[in-house]
Amino acid sequence: MEYQNQNVQTAAELLKKRFAELANKADILKAVELRALYAEIPTLPAEERSGFGQEINALRTELQAMVDASQEQAEALPPIDVTAPFDVNTPRPALLPSETGSKHPLMTELETVLDIFYRMGFNAVESREIDDDYHMFGSLNFPEGHPARDDYDTFMTTQTDGNGKPLIAPAHTSTMQNRVLQKYRANLEQGEPIACLIPGRVFRNEDLDARHEHTFYQLEGVYVGKGVHAGMLIATLKNFLQEYYGKELEVRTQPFYFPFTEPSFEFALSCPFCDKKGCNVCSYTGWIELLGCGMIHPNVLREAGIDPELYTGFAWGCGLDRLVLMKYNIEDIRHFESANLNFLRQFA
Ligand code: DAH
Repeated sequence: MEYQNQNVQTAAELLKKRFAELANKADILKAVELRALYAEIPTLPAEERSGFGQEINALRTELQAMVDASQEQAEALPPIDVTAPFDVNTPRPALLPSETGSKHPLMTELETVLDIFYRMGFNAVESREIDDDYHMFGSLNFPEGHPARDDYDTFMTTQTDGNGKPLIAPAHTSTMQNRVLQKYRANLEQGEPIACLIPGRVFRNEDLDARHEHTFYQLEGVYVGKGVHAGMLIATLKNFLQEYYGKELEVRTQPFYFPFTEPSFEFALSCPFCDKKGCNVCSYTGWIELLGCGMIHPNVLREAGIDPELYTGFAWGCGLDRLVLMKYNIEDIRHFESANLNFLRQFA
């Protein structure tokens, strides 16, 4: 339909174009452009008002007809039968007998990882699935209200700790650092280092995609002793990764920020799939950013009763799911928590 008035004609063309893209077609009737046309009426000379008003009404009627037609079309789709969600002739799923169960691939891989670290002289302590604000932030040198806390958005419970702060599902295994440092502090006086691996389940308020899950596993490492330096950190991680992937790798660090380490690094390894030639695993960069690490901040050592003038240490936090994802070229991290037997049986 053609409109005499130029303003109505322009609006009509624009709104019809927009209509095609709208998810909720009825929204076209609330368009600001349509409202603006109505608002124009009182500004016109009295003799023009009626003709202009009729044209806007005609446009509105035209748009309303388009909305109605689109709804009829949607209604014409065959209804979804909610009473029979699957073919009644297929056998119903039955509970599996326990003998057919198998270890979850992440737990099998965790054992491999632990074996490597045991051989390097580390012991292991499991982290917890509910923790408090002090271990999540305070003990790790995150000042109250510091913006770095926002990077660790996780799930809160309605229960509170002794200070009235909500108990939380920890966003990283670093929550265990203070406990482990205190637990093994006595090693240091006997000339022994603290060498501890802390595997655990962690939780984040994430936008989910093939690389991000709300629930995943981390491997925290803590090593403290006399004269410990960043070269030892890099050598330890490189050794571990070469053992895990069974091949020579290159590693690379770049400066980063964590409140609980100084200096802090982002640690990357050369892609174990393509040896830096470029492939879809490394997004054609040849490198994979794998983990965060650094030299434990003096405040973190002090908070655990360790004198940072006498002892230094390193720590890292690595996603277990990511390691395994790369080892087997698994395309989507969400398989791990999916309980999809077709996925799990490939590792049984
Ligand atoms: N907790 C950090 C994270 O989840 C990773 C991390 C970085 C752990 C540096 C560390 C560390 O122990 O020293 O993002």
